[in-house]
Amino acid sequence: MRRPLFAANWKMNLWVRDVAGYLQGLESRVASMGKSIREDYDVVLAPPATHLTTLLESRRNPNIEISAQNSGTALAGAFTGENSPAVLMEMGVRWVILGHSERRHVFGETEEILEKRLDAALEAGLEVIYCVGEKIEARRAGDTMKVVESQLAALRHLTPGEWSRVVVAYEPVWAIGTGETATPEQAQEAHQFIRSWISEHRAADLAEQVRILYGGSANAGNSKSLMAQKDVDGLLVGSASLDAEKFADLIKNGLG
Ligand code: PGA
Repeated sequence: MRRPLFAANWKMNLWVRDVAGYLQGLESRVASMGKSIREDYDVVLAPPATHLTTLLESRRNPNIEISAQNSGTALAGAFTGENSPAVLMEMGVRWVILGHSERRHVFGETEEILEKRLDAALEAGLEVIYCVGEKIEARRAGDTMKVVESQLAALRHLTPGEWSRVVVAYEPVWAIGTGETATPEQAQEAHQFIRSWISEHRAADLAEQVRILYGGSANAGNSKSLMAQKDVDGLLVGSASLDAEKFADLIKNGLG
């Protein structure tokens, strides 16, 4: 019922000149999988903003969707260094990742800023991958769900229509880029918590429809066991998405 979604977060990696080869590699590998993108599963590529145009122009399979890694707090205005969500839509970008742990913890983006980014992105018509996740200290202190719940607060005011364009990504900070993946059980526990939060704050039928991705050292070796969890609907992938072959293997194993 919830279509699996695999999202590649390139972060600030790869060259523009790598884009064509990457797409060729990914497109040919997914074409040989016997399942089709959009019908059976979704693929979203989130390159740096500098690569978006090339990716949009080089893509041969339009079912592979493109995402930005961040977007502005308003549609236009005096916001030096920001990218307008409306212009991303104009370009053909359909998604944006918001609240990634690097935005929160390296660049200090607050809940207040994130809520503005979220509202502007939804107003522009983008679909949003909204990231939440605890640091290791919080997990050790048994505060994982408390942290996740406080981060989910930015989604409290969304209408059911807006929720249909939001995907939540649970990314424990201690698992991002560390090679230490959450166990499938740890992922499931957090995902189930997020789904029940949506059910409590919105509605049970809506909670059943919202996709919840896991992120944090996901790779071709663990995608199957993570995806086997009831509430894990997809993966948000950093390092293992930088190589088209590895990312395609992750998708293949994840789809089982
Ligand atoms: P990782 O990154 O797969 O390299 O851990 C995931 C992410 O930051 O989205």
